[in-house]
Formats: sequence, structure tokens, C-alpha cells
Amino acid sequence: MAVTLDFKDKVVVVVGGTSGINRGIAERFAAQGACVAVASRSQDKVDDTVASLKSAGAPKAVGQAFDVRDPDAVAAGLKVFHEQLGDFDILVSGAAGNFPALISDMSVNAFRTVVEIDLMGTIHVMKGAYPYLKKPGSSIINISAPQGYQASEAQGHVGAAKAGVDQITRVLALEWGGEGIRINSVVPGFIADTEGVKRLSASEDSLNETIDYTPLNRIGEKNDVANMCLMLSSELSSYVTGQVIEVDGGLYLRGSSVFGKALGDMLRSQKA
Ligand code: HXC
Ligand code: NAP
Repeated sequence: MAVTLDFKDKVVVVVGGTSGINRGIAERFAAQGACVAVASRSQDKVDDTVASLKSAGAPKAVGQAFDVRDPDAVAAGLKVFHEQLGDFDILVSGAAGNFPALISDMSVNAFRTVVEIDLMGTIHVMKGAYPYLKKPGSSIINISAPQGYQASEAQGHVGAAKAGVDQITRVLALEWGGEGIRINSVVPGFIADTEGVKRLSASEDSLNETIDYTPLNRIGEKNDVANMCLMLSSELSSYVTGQVIEVDGGLYLRGSSVFGKALGDMLRSQKA
């Protein structure tokens, strides 16, 4: 069988695709010739990303500003993407919010905010996109996080939300598999030059310790995650669905959350 990673004229939608890892994914698909749509809350970030997608090589690039916490706004935005680009071949859902906070010190609204963005946002994106997914043949990727299965101090909200995201991935693999829709979670490890690492590194020392702890002995790059998304959306992965796949240099094989311990220590010392 001839295998190709050519995404020419495929339709790719990346929700939360205007910065960091997700923007890296969107730009990578654009460079492979895909038509790409991105969405996030900020119209300025959307506009800037659409321009960069066109420069990267996307034959068509479009964007919408909406908040994934609002199901009607998500559905309306995805409908516009469908009118502009046609059926979706690839859907990436990666909008997320995060800050370090101990559960005992966090307000109920703080916990709820992260669950609503990460978990409910994913559901809104899945349900909003469903009518427009190519059937058969589409690939969905939910961007998850290691906190979903690795208990990490100061990350209870994100851990609960991303565990939910991964279970949605598995359940939808069952419910939508018969229609030829594949769905997988991609779990980045520590990825350089991202908001996530900026927010979750208690100090330069703790970041270096995490890198030292990583079996492949380096921090991840946005392209490492984009590569996995390309592979999961290609024929190379035509029999892969319902999986939660780490792109983390082997970090979580160590079975311990070094960065979470450092965050917990930092927050406790601030209270002392
Ligand atoms: C405790 C906090 C807090 C903090 C906010 N809150 N920051 N509580 N510690 N540091 C509380 C607020 O007081 C409020 O509760 C509630 O959370 C909602 O805050 P708002 O500012 O009103 O929310 P909003 O404007 O909607 O912004 C959402 C956000 C924000 C999540 C708080 O940070 C955001 O927009 N983030 C998006 C970008 C992002 O987080 N990127 C990183 C993703 S990294 P009260 O009770 O006062 O009303 C990631 C995984 C990385 O997901 C993994 C690396 C290994
Ligand atoms: P980021 O740059 O902050 O990206 C988050 C994206 O989501 C932005 O485009 C943001 O744009 C959008 N967004 C946030 N809240 C939203 C909302 N309510 N509605 C719509 N869009 C929203 O973060 P990142 O560090 O690259 O993380 C990207 C993804 O990777 C996340 O799912 C995160 O959990 C996961 N991850 C990251 C790392 C890491 O090393 N950084 C590790 C593991 C997992 P707006 O601000 O314009 O809304």
C-alpha cells in the first residue's frame, strides 16, 4: 500500500488553535497544503493566526472568535466553517485553561472554570462538529494532558477535566466508529515556549529537573506534537481509534509528577 502524508485540500479545524501547541498543529497542516480553520476567544489572535496559516501555505484559512464554554456560539462558529470550507476531514480540539492552585485554596468557580473550558468545551466542540464531520473518513484529536492520569499537586481541576476528555475520546470511539470516524487523544509532555510550561514551572530549577527526569533528555517541541497529529490523521493510522497517546519523551514512565511536587511546595511555602 502506498502511504502518503499529503493533506492537500483536506479540511482541518483547530479549536483553540491560535497560540502555543495548537497553533503549531494548525500551521503544520497548513504547510502540508490543508485548508485550515481556527477558533479561540480573541479576535486579534484569530486574525494573526489566519494570516500566518496563509503564509505557511494553506490554500484557504479562516477563523472565528468564540468561547468553547458557550455551546450555541461553538455550534454557530462551526456551521460557518462548514459553509466556508465544506465537510471536516480533521478536527483538533485543544482549548484549555490552567493555573496552579491547591484544591483547598481554590474557589468553586475557579475549579468550575477549568472544567467548563477543558471538559465541557470539548463536549461542545464534539457535538457542534458532528453534523459536519466527513463520514466515513474523519479523524478527531483531543489535546489532553498528563495530569488526566498522573495525579499532580496544584492541578486537581485540570486533572479531573482532562481525565474526562480522555474518557470522551474512548466513548466516542465506540459511538462514532461505525460511521467511520476515528477519535484519539494526544497528550503532550513539557513543550517548549508555551503558556502551559510558563504557568506550571515553579522555577527554572524545577523545569530543568523535569527535563533531566525525561528519558529522552530534552524538552518537547511543538512540532513533536504536530507530527503525531499528522500521523493520526493519515492512512498510517487508519485502524487506530480510542487511544490516549503520549508525546512526552517518556516523562510519565517515571510514574511521578516532579513538576506537581514543586508547584505544591511553592504554593505551601507562600502560605507559611
Ligand atoms: C486561583 C484562580 C487563578 C489562580 C484564576 N482563578 N486564576 N484561582 N489561582 N491563579 C479563579 C478566579 O479567581 C475566578 O474565581 C475563576 O478562576 C475564573 O477566573 P477568570 O479570570 O474570571 O476566568 P476567565 O477570564 O474565564 O479566564 C480563564 C482562566 C485564564 C483559565 C482563569 O487563565 C485563561 O483564560 N487561560 C487560558 C490560557 C491557558 O490557561 N493556557 C495554559 C493551558 S496549559 P472567582 O471565585 O474569583 O470568581 C494546560 C496544561 C499544561 O492546560 C500541562 C503542562 C504539563
Ligand atoms: P495556550 O497557548 O494557552 O493555548 C490555549 C488555546 O486555547 C489558545 O488558542 C486560547 O486562545 C484558547 N482558549 C483558551 N480558553 C478558551 C476558551 N474558553 N474558548 C476558546 N478558546 C480558548 O496553551 P498551550 O500551553 O499551548 O496548551 C495547548 C493545549 O495543550 C492545551 O489543551 C493544554 O492543556 C495542552 N497541553 C499543553 C502542555 C504544554 O507543555 N504547554 C502540556 C500538556 C498539555 P484565546 O486566549 O484567544 O481564547
